[in-house]
Amino acid sequence: MANHRADREAVVEKALAALDLDARCRLLAGQDMWSLPAVPEIGLASVVMSDGPIGVRGVHWSPEDPSIALPSPTALAATWDPPLARRAGQLLAQEARRKGVHVLLAPTLNLHRSPLGGRHFECYSEDPLLTGAIGAAYVTGVQEGGVAATPKHFVANDSETDRFTVDVRVSQRALHELYLAPFRTVVEQAEPWALMAAYNSVNGVTMTEHNALQNEILRARWGFDGAIVSDWTAARNTVGAAVGGLDIAMPGPQSVFGRALAEAVRAGHVPAETVERMTRHVLRLAARVGALAGAPPEVVTLPTTINGDALAHEIAQRSIVLLRNENDVLPLGKIGRIALIGQTADQPRALGGGSAQVFPPHTVAPLDGLRAVLDADTELVYAVGADPRVKIPAAKEGFQLRVQLYGSGDRLLGEHPLPEAAIEWIGEFPDGIAVGELHRVVVSGTFTPRATGTHTFAITGIGPFRLTVGDAICFDDRIVPQGDPLAAFLRPPEMPIDIELTAGQPVSVNLTHTVTTMPDVPIAFAKFSLGHQDPNIDPEALIEEAVAAAAAADVAVVIVATTPEVESESFDRASLLLPGRQDELVARVAAANPRTVVVVNSGSPVQMPWAEDVAAILLTWFPGQEGGAALADVLMGRAEPSGRLPTTWPADQDDAPVLNVTPTDGALSYAEDIYIGYRAWQQHSTAPAYWFGHGIGYTTWEYETATFAPDPEAAGALGTLTVRVRNTGDRPGRETIQTYIAHSSRPDRRLAAFAVVQAEPGETAEVAIPIPRRAAESWDETTETWVQPTTAYDLLTGRSVADIRLAIAIDLEGPHA
Ligand code: BGC
Repeated sequence: MANHRADREAVVEKALAALDLDARCRLLAGQDMWSLPAVPEIGLASVVMSDGPIGVRGVHWSPEDPSIALPSPTALAATWDPPLARRAGQLLAQEARRKGVHVLLAPTLNLHRSPLGGRHFECYSEDPLLTGAIGAAYVTGVQEGGVAATPKHFVANDSETDRFTVDVRVSQRALHELYLAPFRTVVEQAEPWALMAAYNSVNGVTMTEHNALQNEILRARWGFDGAIVSDWTAARNTVGAAVGGLDIAMPGPQSVFGRALAEAVRAGHVPAETVERMTRHVLRLAARVGALAGAPPEVVTLPTTINGDALAHEIAQRSIVLLRNENDVLPLGKIGRIALIGQTADQPRALGGGSAQVFPPHTVAPLDGLRAVLDADTELVYAVGADPRVKIPAAKEGFQLRVQLYGSGDRLLGEHPLPEAAIEWIGEFPDGIAVGELHRVVVSGTFTPRATGTHTFAITGIGPFRLTVGDAICFDDRIVPQGDPLAAFLRPPEMPIDIELTAGQPVSVNLTHTVTTMPDVPIAFAKFSLGHQDPNIDPEALIEEAVAAAAAADVAVVIVATTPEVESESFDRASLLLPGRQDELVARVAAANPRTVVVVNSGSPVQMPWAEDVAAILLTWFPGQEGGAALADVLMGRAEPSGRLPTTWPADQDDAPVLNVTPTDGALSYAEDIYIGYRAWQQHSTAPAYWFGHGIGYTTWEYETATFAPDPEAAGALGTLTVRVRNTGDRPGRETIQTYIAHSSRPDRRLAAFAVVQAEPGETAEVAIPIPRRAAESWDETTETWVQPTTAYDLLTGRSVADIRLAIAIDLEGPHA
């Protein structure tokens, strides 16, 4: 068999030799928002990148090009199931190929350091081992599909406040044991072909220029041989980034690489060999994904085609965590009347916001999901209860709109129907309209009000807008961002306008926006919306209606959620409280019906002050496009909620041992050192609401035996733990067996290994779990190596970090090097 690696490298070297300095430097900078330039002379196609991690948006940031939307990474981690994560990766590769994407900008391997972290939903866990295991499987799956994965954001990008500039001050021990650990696992186990350097600094050096972490640790120590791409606009200094280990500066065309890099080489500031090495990395990436003619790609035979809707449904179902189930209120079984309550029961929050956003072909709401599975004898009553949205939603109901795109001199360049009045074109415009060509965007049509009274319209965006409703000019001005322009771009200001209208009388609506640029946002964009809200939404009446519906039903299911304004990329959360009057809604519904089930639709922890007063609590995370169907299955007992918490949930945010995400004088101190998540909670005076690993499912388990067989010869493992559990309930079930390790000089428990098993009622399941040697190691700051501090350990196996069922002491013969 031909040696593909050697053949590939030979073609890479030949291509490299054919490029002069300028051509090499051009290849290291984005040619636009998402791609690198092609070099036809050497058979190099343009390498195209796209976000990740729950779908593949492609190069169009718009609904015209839909993508399968899987559940949020927190949900995927809640399955504790690497083989499932691998299938998710394979599906995403399939999506990427369909969209002409070579490089998927995912997975996100940062940690849940503080529950306030804005991108918590996009990361897997507070635990580096679980993060690494899910991340490695995901990367394996993506790359099995012939597409490069790009683990991000390397490293310590664990919160969003001042994310472009924050300097994270962290000890070497915490870096190695926590924040670098999942990246190391993924590099060693899954060999990603690319990796993304973060925006932030670590101990005084910005990550795109971090020689010690990028060149010395990632490449030299761990053997990473792929390409390092900057986070978008993160590369700021030509010489620093080139010498510090970055290969690709994204996006373009303005860039610190390209021409600026060639000049730096000519001026003697960057060695020519550095550019040669960077170009080699990029050509190798292209060769691996099949974009360099003549080079054998990594993958020739693709995995079998996956049904995306079905996989989205399966992951959503498997990720649901049952936190509490008093008197076995769930599953519901045969039931007369269900009151389904909550704004997101009808309009679910399927996915998190920011760069993770994709546009799914459809979204199954819980209301649709339940309707589809309930039998004819069950009545389903729906009430909004409380609408937590603080922004006026984009105009939809009652509107018939089109969007027109105009060039200079009123030349019509494109026209489309617009089902919802939100425009979000970032990096490029539809219809192949070139940047600079688009001058005006016009959203126009008619609105037929359902109610008479004061309707509220709202323009959300930046730049000049003119709104007319009927004959009235309601707004004609420029909206100017306040404060940080990039933050304003991501979360533009909202201009509300009240207009008196009469029910049933259609009015014309026209919103014209002149396309604008922002000096600090070097990206072409048109991003604005026209909001609309009906008159007279009385919040008190909404709650009363829901309480009455609950009182008259056999069971009340209340869905509560975070909104994009409180949980999303680019800012951290100010509070873990649910927005709006949702807590009050739950409390009042629970008082009206003791059989109240609360479903939390959030990407990350929320406070649940009513937790002890409700019968059951389910977490669905951001469940992706099939979330409503998965929830219906779990509520009705067609599937078990077999998810387990990938992160500890505090009862009150002020109890959280690590909370602060706000830098002081530009620096964020990780003063808690190695104590985050359950590691910290174990030392804490207050207990959390729900521990890492918790989740109760629909059956019961007895942990019968655990035996350990040491294997001093095994390179990566201390030995094998064999665990037997019995399903003692009356339903088939799935159990996540978790093994923690502790020792005398460090008594707090750390996750060492885990395995998912299934068993029928009364049956046992036995599993052999290798205990990785790494679980016993600590980072020694003096010698800068991993050490095994003792030979005597406790292996603690159970259902969560706080629910240990079997403990065994092991003594290994002697410390291993
Ligand atoms: C995010 C990255 C993302 C990139 C491109 C950045 O703001 O931090 O995760 O891949 O944008 O959308």
